[in-house]
Amino acid sequence: MPYHPEIFQPYEHLIGISICGESRLVPEKNSILRCLQFLDMERISDADLCWNGECVNCQVWIKNGEKEKAVMACRTNVAEGMVITRISDSLK
Ligand code: FES
Repeated sequence: MPYHPEIFQPYEHLIGISICGESRLVPEKNSILRCLQFLDMERISDADLCWNGECVNCQVWIKNGEKEKAVMACRTNVAEGMVITRISDSLK
């Protein structure tokens, strides 16, 4: 898989998040969408996404206390321990 450091925000560490029940390490200071791309460059690069908050195809649901909260992955940065419970079909 080719690595494209120029598309990511500068980071020093990988942080742990959970995606649909799987623990993954992703670059801090980056959007959830960039982190999904970090994990699967080809699939996310080829997905039908605007990358700027207009299409809503990047919707994911994150755990928020006992509830879930829908956010746009291109507009939301990851945080250590973030739990993503569901991702939109466009990201699968
Ligand atoms: S990629 Fe289009 S709204 Fe996030």
